Amino acid sequence: MEYILEMKNISKQFPGVKALNNVNLNIKKGEVHVLVGENGAGKSTLMKILNGVYSKDSGEIVFKGKQIQIRNPREAQEAGISIIYQELNLIPKLSVAENIFLGREPLKKNGLIDWKMVYKETEVLLKKLEIDLDPRTKINKLGIAQQQMIEIAKALSFKSDIIVMDEPTSALTDKEINKLFAVIRQLKESGVAIIYISHRLEEIKQIGDRLTVLRDGNYIGTYEVKDIDIDTIIQLMVGRKVDEKYPKETAEISDIVLEVRNLNNAKLKNISFRLKKGEILGLAGLMGAGRTELARAIFGVDPINSGDIYINGIKKNISSPLDAIKNGIGLLPEDRRTQGLIQKMNVLENITLPNLNSFVDRIFINKKREINKSIEFIEQVNIRTPSPLAKVRFLSGGNQQKVVLAKWLCANVEIIIFDEPTRGIDVGAKVEIYKLICNMAKRGKAILLISSELPEVLGMCDRILVMHEGEITGELSRQEATQEKILSYATGRNKNVG
Ligand SMILES: Nc1ncnc2c1ncn2[C@@H]1O[C@H](COP(=O)(O)OP(=O)(O)OP(=O)(O)O)[C@@H](O)[C@H]1O
Ligand SMILES: [Mg+2]
Repeated sequence: MEYILEMKNISKQFPGVKALNNVNLNIKKGEVHVLVGENGAGKSTLMKILNGVYSKDSGEIVFKGKQIQIRNPREAQEAGISIIYQELNLIPKLSVAENIFLGREPLKKNGLIDWKMVYKETEVLLKKLEIDLDPRTKINKLGIAQQQMIEIAKALSFKSDIIVMDEPTSALTDKEINKLFAVIRQLKESGVAIIYISHRLEEIKQIGDRLTVLRDGNYIGTYEVKDIDIDTIIQLMVGRKVDEKYPKETAEISDIVLEVRNLNNAKLKNISFRLKKGEILGLAGLMGAGRTELARAIFGVDPINSGDIYINGIKKNISSPLDAIKNGIGLLPEDRRTQGLIQKMNVLENITLPNLNSFVDRIFINKKREINKSIEFIEQVNIRTPSPLAKVRFLSGGNQQKVVLAKWLCANVEIIIFDEPTRGIDVGAKVEIYKLICNMAKRGKAILLISSELPEVLGMCDRILVMHEGEITGELSRQEATQEKILSYATGRNKNVG
């Protein structure tokens, strides 16, 4: 038996969208199989079918040589197939051990839960993964990387033969990614197969054995990772050549639009900087350096203790996002799915929300203008949605992010803060987003670009600020910036502030 799992000719239709069209996926024991494709290509849907969240319209699933029906996630898990979703599923108030054994706690002879056993078993699992944690620790005390490890421990406790990881690294630091890869290699050695979904294509070479490409719900092919290069993978994914990765154009940089002076709060130390019209100012730093906190302080989400914010030379009091928007500031938040979107509303409503005023004729909203405008933006950022009126919660992860992006592109603000704008976005769409950001700068918008991807910062920004532990530790012009210099400021090894 060559394959432990075969998904054959799987099709799935959602209202208005053919999410999967005769897709195949074959998995070998102990391999890392990477699943790639643009946003909306059908990756998560295929995995949700494997996991019994969705039922397939047609096709068959053969697991360990037998055709099987998977009706719900519980059945999948018991059969030996576990999924780790990007939105982790642990219960924050319960402990590590309680989460791992939830609903299947071992019982003592008298019918009561054998807690001693629960904690002991958990300890064994954690040890196996070299995770240094007390099984009694509550989940809400853990960071994302640790939570992910707990999900992996849970998958192991089910003696899974297959573990699916849907964009596991999108919120991890480099160090945490290395740890995850070490665990993946260990799982491989013990014969577990990993299905790995990621938009970070450089990871394919690091961790993948074989890969399968989907495009528009279609199966494109399966390849040995060692026989294929990244450019070819991109071409297979998007169906065309993507030539330029960073389509940077420098705009005319003029007046100071935003000035922050000696800003302090719980997370920020004496932050001062200026942002000009037409400028793309990068904000680099390691995870936890305080970049998101700075964005939130400027946007009026987090309170400031001292310091001033000037817009076009005038001191402003910004104590809520509404104040910020009124003063011409927009923020594309890092966690877009929960902070940037109203899941119950449709695509159109989400896009036009901060900008409704411009669609009002006297007292009525001009629905036609609103629809036309939203269609324009849906096309610009290439959002895969059956209609502007589809609810955002039915869009794929990456497409939901694009909706938030479109919202701020459409809004009439002068200053836009982008917090990790391309996280979870496919390669083709990344280039489109970079072009849009450049165009905004050309139209005189001032842009603050927070990014953990150093090539992105180097490729896109006119000037770069680097943060470390809540402080700005360095400033670099586009010309002088290099990865090494950014890193030396980001790690606090070096300081240079004027
Ligand atoms: N529950 C649903 N109802 C309606 N349409 C859906 C539903 N789930 C997914 N879709 C649609 O199916 C298509 C495939 O979505 P899927 O989430 O599988 O994409 P993906 O490859 O995981 O993309 P991403 O990289 O953005 O996460 C998309 O067009 C999406 O809008
Ligand atoms: Mg997905």
